[in-house]
Amino acid sequence: MLGTFKYANPTRVFFGEKSLSYLAKELKNYGNKVMLCYGGGSIKKNGIYDDVIKILKDSGKTVFEDPGVMSNPTLEKLYEGCKIAKDNDVDLILAVGGGSTIDYAKGVSVSAWCKDEPWEKYYLQNQKPDNKIIPVGCVLTMVGTGSEMNAGSVITNHKENLKIGRVFDDNVMPKFAILNPKYTFTVPKYQMVAGIYDAFNHICEQYFSDTDDNTSDYISEALMKSLIVSSRIAVKNPQDYEARSNIMWAATWALNTLISRGKTTDWEVHMLGQAIGAYTDATHGMTLSAVSLPYYRHIMPYGIEKFKRFAKNVWDVDVTKMSDKEAAEEGLKKLEAWMKEIGVVLSLKELGAKEEMFEGIASATFLLKGGYKALTHDDVIKILKESF
Ligand code: NZQ
Ligand code: ZN
Repeated sequence: MLGTFKYANPTRVFFGEKSLSYLAKELKNYGNKVMLCYGGGSIKKNGIYDDVIKILKDSGKTVFEDPGVMSNPTLEKLYEGCKIAKDNDVDLILAVGGGSTIDYAKGVSVSAWCKDEPWEKYYLQNQKPDNKIIPVGCVLTMVGTGSEMNAGSVITNHKENLKIGRVFDDNVMPKFAILNPKYTFTVPKYQMVAGIYDAFNHICEQYFSDTDDNTSDYISEALMKSLIVSSRIAVKNPQDYEARSNIMWAATWALNTLISRGKTTDWEVHMLGQAIGAYTDATHGMTLSAVSLPYYRHIMPYGIEKFKRFAKNVWDVDVTKMSDKEAAEEGLKKLEAWMKEIGVVLSLKELGAKEEMFEGIASATFLLKGGYKALTHDDVIKILKESF
């Protein structure tokens, strides 16, 4: 482990079937005005809304509702939320939903009192907030992004064809996160597997970088194994509490800053996925799955040792009689077979992408340097074609 780093995670997590009972106690730490953000209505159908509202009312809170946070939240919606938060001078933003709702809540938290244009300041220029940050708490209902315990906030600007993820400092992370695996039982299968692949890919993005012996990589391997085992159970029986709880906890640890310690990290699959998302508005996890195999086959020769280790330690491939190349390829074959088994999208066509979008998508793809090979614009075009 050769890196120099700081580690802290201020999010208090309450996990398990009874975790919502901790909400009332957490609410005592904040003033009376609570902005309640949620998505397109799933929480009203499955009863989570009623349970949360009751706790808010019993705690004497005045609730300002902000429904309709869409998947891949937009800049226009962010402005709407900022107005509600500022006009009512809210004391807490409570996000009840998946990554989109929680990311959005964090966006509102730093933007409501921002004197400058938030898109420009935070998402394009990566500046730090220097205004009041409204605290965020969350109740997670859809697993994958890790937003419940990190400082990420991804916003889509359709006018500029850009989807940008900003990672803020620790002070923007949710103050508390309520994780009840049962809440995920009503998530449609397409979203469930997209979330599982999203979490798996978060681990890959951190794992496939560097050549030193690093504790973070061993933790990553364990998390990947847990996701593989539990995903196989959950696709057959989505109501399996044990599997869904393991997926929930593994996904949180996949992106709560721990496994990136001491790593340069890659994140190129996410850069491709976000550019594809900006053009298609497709489900985040599926934008990653569609490009992953062509991407990893492209960079594999430059990080062959790690890909061999991936085959051996994650997929239990007996590599003893194989060349490095054969072993590395075998690991990716196992990954491909698992992706097919759980049913993630493997082609950009299925996401509504068109060949005439490729130049635009490639130009909107940020080219990073942390992985085993820095891509060029032409590499991106090649990968998009192979993913089509
Ligand atoms: O809007 P509702 O009606 O709630 O429906 C949602 C939505 O349609 C539904 N859903 C959520 N919980 C449910 C449920 N349906 C039934 N029962 C439940 N319990 O699921 C759909 C997807 O929800 P969404 O929040 O959009 O999904 P996800 O959690 O995958 O979040 C995606 C967003 O997070 C960003 C993505 O780019 C995307 O914008 N990411 C955030 C990251 C972060 N903060 O670190 C990292 C990720 O890489 C990712 O980029
Ligand atoms: Zn992701």
